[in-house]
Amino acid sequence: MVKLTGLKKIKTAIFISGAGSNLKSLIKFSKTKKSPILVELIVSSNQSAKGLNFAKKYNIKKKVFNNRDVKLTEKKILSLLKKYKINLICLAGYMKILSANFIEKFNGKIINIHPSLLPRYKGLKTHERAIKNKDKFAGCSVHYVTSKLDSGKIIIQEKVRILKKDNIKTLSQKVLKKEHKLYPAAILKIFN
Ligand code: GRF
Repeated sequence: MVKLTGLKKIKTAIFISGAGSNLKSLIKFSKTKKSPILVELIVSSNQSAKGLNFAKKYNIKKKVFNNRDVKLTEKKILSLLKKYKINLICLAGYMKILSANFIEKFNGKIINIHPSLLPRYKGLKTHERAIKNKDKFAGCSVHYVTSKLDSGKIIIQEKVRILKKDNIKTLSQKVLKKEHKLYPAAILKIFN
């Protein structure tokens, strides 16, 4: 992972597909003095992602890529990242799987937030599976992205207790709240 040099902030792109609540927390964090990152670009795989509204609100450049041709899309994304001198990619609810080629080109500079205590529950429906298995804890993890889904080195994790009364909705709300603190904490951990 790139280290912070001098006082220059790391130009960061946030990739989203949906609500963008983690995007919002990262933008807010990036505006603090202690933040090593600067959110320079928002990439969305979905034209109607609610999170895109934050681009306007915070005056950040945004670009939507929803073409089915993965190779072409990734080529375009890579040239955009080059144009804006992006040095870190934060996946935040990005619902596309990046190719091994893309990941290799940005090796060690892509991180992701996942709503489970990895290595448990890689992939989707994490809360549903945790409740079904009667787990005592759920949680969230920030990890490096490798070509193996949700399997890269874990940077930081946080637990959330699952109560008897919890359902998928209440649990995902509790975990999401933790996520908003965990992503900035992961970035501080990487760069400090
Ligand atoms: C979060 O739960 C994140 O862990 C997962 O997708 C969700 C995105 O939520 N990868 P939001 O778009 O940041 O609100």
